[in-house]
Amino acid sequence: MERIDQVVETCNIRLKRMKCVAMEGLIEEGQELIDEIEKGPVLDAGLVAAAQKVEHYEIAAYGSLCAIGKQLRFAEGVKLLEATLEEEKATDLKLSEFAERAGNANASQQDGEDETTRKSSSKSKAGHAKAEA
Ligand SMILES: [Fe+2]
Repeated sequence: MERIDQVVETCNIRLKRMKCVAMEGLIEEGQELIDEIEKGPVLDAGLVAAAQKVEHYEIAAYGSLCAIGKQLRFAEGVKLLEATLEEEKATDLKLSEFAERAGNANASQQDGEDETTRKSSSKSKAGHAKAEA
């Protein structure tokens, strides 16, 4: 927000503050995941995806603002907006790395559980099959 204020000041423009309905919707989607999915790897994966939707939206918005700012020759403002754009991209990358690490950890944990299941008696497998039926 401070940087946006700087952009407004640097470019000598006036800005009408508005609520971003799209962003509110993305945040609401994340809240729905929290409300509907129990804590665990599935919720974690969903929340990372929800956060990445937010980052991608921000990347689109700041990317567009940078392009428009360049066309209007607001060099100083564009520099500030590009700094924010790079931060959004870095956050998106961190989220991707986190999701990949978490996915790998869950996959290897599941492999371990599969191994345990294979080693355990057939009784538990029969119980599991019953639960699914
Ligand atoms: Fe962000």
